[in-house]
Amino acid sequence: MDIDLKIGQVGSEVNSTIIIGLFKDTDLDNPGYSFLTSELREYLKGILALDDFKAGNDEVVTLYPQGLLPISRIILIGLGESETLNTEVIRCASGLAIKEVIKNGIMEVWAAIPGTGLSCIEPQDYAQASIEGMLLGGYSYELYKTTSEVKSKLKRITLVSGEKLHSDGILKGLQLGQITAEGTMTARDLSNAPGNGMPPQMLAAVARKMAAGNGLKCKILARGEIEKEGMGALIAVNAGSAEPPRFIILEYGDDLDRGDAIVIVGKGITFDSGGISIKPSGGMEEMKHDMSGAAAVIGAMQAISQLKPSIRVVGLIPATENLPDGKALKPGDIITALAGKTIEVINTDAEGRLVLADALGYAKRYEPAAVIDLATLTGACVIALGNMASGMMGNNKPLQDRVQKASEVAGERVWPLPIWKEHHDQIKSNVADVKNTGGRWGGALTAGAFLEKFVSYPWVHLDIAGTAYTESKQAYCPIGATGVGVRLLVELIRRWEK
Ligand code: BES
Ligand code: MN
Ligand code: ZN
Repeated sequence: MDIDLKIGQVGSEVNSTIIIGLFKDTDLDNPGYSFLTSELREYLKGILALDDFKAGNDEVVTLYPQGLLPISRIILIGLGESETLNTEVIRCASGLAIKEVIKNGIMEVWAAIPGTGLSCIEPQDYAQASIEGMLLGGYSYELYKTTSEVKSKLKRITLVSGEKLHSDGILKGLQLGQITAEGTMTARDLSNAPGNGMPPQMLAAVARKMAAGNGLKCKILARGEIEKEGMGALIAVNAGSAEPPRFIILEYGDDLDRGDAIVIVGKGITFDSGGISIKPSGGMEEMKHDMSGAAAVIGAMQAISQLKPSIRVVGLIPATENLPDGKALKPGDIITALAGKTIEVINTDAEGRLVLADALGYAKRYEPAAVIDLATLTGACVIALGNMASGMMGNNKPLQDRVQKASEVAGERVWPLPIWKEHHDQIKSNVADVKNTGGRWGGALTAGAFLEKFVSYPWVHLDIAGTAYTESKQAYCPIGATGVGVRLLVELIRRWEK
């Protein structure tokens, strides 16, 4: 996609399509609308006088001013009240607008950025959010479609601002928006891939290729090296699978002398049947998304390699399937994780925490300033928070606050959940150091407590079971993987530098 900026006015390009966001009680004579030619301004005044378009959130109308203006289409999007405008409103509105563009087979579109003085959003942030909304709103997963119903023809987006003063900021926002959206789409593609299309070896190959294309260091551990490292939990979860496991390591900024590394860890279960503790068949197909944490790490590392922050960032992914078999891990088995701790396996379907235990142990060697793990870890978290927020747990309040702040800016909600002593008590084993389930109640929290046993640094755990994929289409996401986590991680790391 070509993305450009034009400083000046829209309304005179013959046959063009223009996206314009309007607020409730819009006054088109406000200098914030200086990007409109006077003909277009007068035309829109007439339209608004009809009061059909109320500029509410979710409102989109396409106008055809043939014979009156040289342009072909105007797509009006509602931004609601100017005082409550935030970047999420912009993403949603831009996502809805771009669907109109794609539906109509349009190849090139202009999107206006309202001037300062109309709202409290900086032009840079407006530009970033609108590019994110448009690129993500236009996403569809078509790898396995032999015929495509509506193939996007969109090739170019030009942002238009009437304010020359802000062109540097807008260019920065445009670039940031494109990088984070592309990282998010990488994550969506990975997570949407079916289990047979994305086994651990393939996930590793995709990570390696992404790294090679973006100047990242990439190490892939195969079964022998995974065993040698002492990752007994990853090996155990893999035992029932015919596909070999992989442990993926992506490193950015090895050459930077700043010491503080941030490590991001993603659960990479390429398909979760539950193993011997097998899941019910209804909805099991969705467990192809059980590597969404891994997808977020790969998408975020891609974006980070392009943004080039001045801190070290390491991505770690334990990857395997979880399947039943004669050789599979069984309830009652006792395994030893990388940290040397023994784990009694009560339920083989609580496999994510097992592979994460090894990865969190591995993270220690980077002497990390912070470790963030992302995992589709528990159904209990979905019961607690629905699909509106990821569950956040951790051992360090300042780090949690940073993650929460980044999440708000990125439009990827997280909500804090506790890990208390009682949750640790729930996972005491009679025969090993810890057991992998804590009973029926507070399942997201006992999973968090389990992970906490394997960390020895500032750490945040994000349970993305509810947010990693969506069962109904959203303003800028179709049914399927959302790519959640990429934007949050990018924002966290961008803010870390400062
Ligand atoms: N991958 C699942 C969690 C999950 C559930 C993700 C629903 C997305 C949607 C995880 O491996 C799992 O099976 N967790 C179990 C844990 C239980 C056995 C303690 C669960 O949540 O039921
Ligand atoms: Mn499971
Ligand atoms: Zn799982």
